[in-house]
Amino acid sequence: MSKSKSLFICTNCNFTSPKWSGKCDKCGSWDSIIEENHNIEIANFSNKKFTPSNSVLTIKKLGEDGENHQRYATKLSELDRCLGGGLVTGSLILIGGDPGVGKSTLLLQVLANLSQQAINSLYISGEESLNQINLRAHRLNLLTAKIDITTDTNVIDIINFLYKNPQIQVVLVDSIQTTYLKEVGAAPGTVNQLRHSVLEFAAIAKKLNITFILIGHVTKDGQLAGPKLVEHMVDTVLYFEGDRANNLRILRSHKNRYGATNELAIFEMQKDGLQEINNPSEIFLDEYNAQSIGSTIFPLSEGSRTILIELQSLIANSHMATPRRAVDGWDNNRLAIILAVLSSKCQLNFAQYEVYFNVAGGLKITEPAADLAAAASLISTLKQQALPYKTIIFGEIGLSGEIRNSNKSFERLQEAEKLGFKRAITPKLKKKPPNLKIEIIEIKHITELLNYF
Ligand code: TYD
Ligand code: MG
Repeated sequence: MSKSKSLFICTNCNFTSPKWSGKCDKCGSWDSIIEENHNIEIANFSNKKFTPSNSVLTIKKLGEDGENHQRYATKLSELDRCLGGGLVTGSLILIGGDPGVGKSTLLLQVLANLSQQAINSLYISGEESLNQINLRAHRLNLLTAKIDITTDTNVIDIINFLYKNPQIQVVLVDSIQTTYLKEVGAAPGTVNQLRHSVLEFAAIAKKLNITFILIGHVTKDGQLAGPKLVEHMVDTVLYFEGDRANNLRILRSHKNRYGATNELAIFEMQKDGLQEINNPSEIFLDEYNAQSIGSTIFPLSEGSRTILIELQSLIANSHMATPRRAVDGWDNNRLAIILAVLSSKCQLNFAQYEVYFNVAGGLKITEPAADLAAAASLISTLKQQALPYKTIIFGEIGLSGEIRNSNKSFERLQEAEKLGFKRAITPKLKKKPPNLKIEIIEIKHITELLNYF
């Protein structure tokens, strides 16, 4: 006996549930849940009779037929590092981000760099006309690059073209929300269209050893399915972060079958395209000065890189029963925990204040090592005293107020020293870093932090 049921899926984060609701329980976005329009057959195998057939499975030994992956250098060293050393042949790379963040710009620069190395690419543009792409290329000074462009977004036509044109090595799809298969019978950008298109691209990528770069818009409303839906089908997932108000653009690897995750590539959007930033700490510390009350410097360690960034907080009197807490670039729950620890272990009470917390430059921090720097920033705001100038601070805070060790301590201290920092407040280090001149102050408990204000 089999029974069928339909599922409801969030187009923003891929969360599935058996019933519809106006707000997604997982990502909190409104009006993003739609019904998946197919039935799921739940077969009862125990009652099925086994009938032998002639079909055979192809079995190979581990290590046999090992694919030797070649990589194409994009010649943007930041991006190459983020990808784990360039674009792997026959792989699918998903690049997501808000509309207007710079995805098409970056990828046009990449295709132009590939064309200089005689790597043939096809640009499938479902969003912009040839004229618009030409205008961008003109702005980027890339009009002479040899790139084939089509505005055709029918997946079967694209695949036919690729079979007939074996010289194409890299395909850019801008964006996956515009490609479609007639057979699916739904509008482009819907969940089923997105999944089927990517599935077809994945098959052809492996078969013809073509690298696919898929651009996906991160969307908050339910009209267009977001790139999260197809993350499991691709080899590499990169997302753009960054504050649209400033020009910094951060690309982070969330998944990479051919390299490390959480690698960051940092760019600046300029009038002639995205330029790489090789000294990000200097850019992130641009506004930092000795009188910065409420701001602390945290040495962030992401992937193979350490970056000094500024954490800022602000408090204001509140007349509300539950004062507001607004966090940008960090975790709301983490802020609540740190405020609770400061209240119970240090008797520092924020209950009558609104608390605003921000990571300068638009970066998103998930590292627990940021706890101590965040706590220092909050204490500094409450006491209206700045932490001594040129001090970095890192360490994880436990619920009893103990300061736990963080990984990559040496790299963090080294980066701070390189940028002229004089002092570091750290957890108890497992071993003393050799050959560093920076003064190291080790603390074991959050209460010890109060001595530095
Ligand atoms: P775009 O690459 O079209 O974004 P996406 O493909 O992610 O939607 O970039 C659009 C923004 O970038 C637009 O606001 C203009 C700006 N821009 C520059 O500042 N400099 C440039 O050289 C280019 C090409 C765009
Ligand atoms: Mg675009």
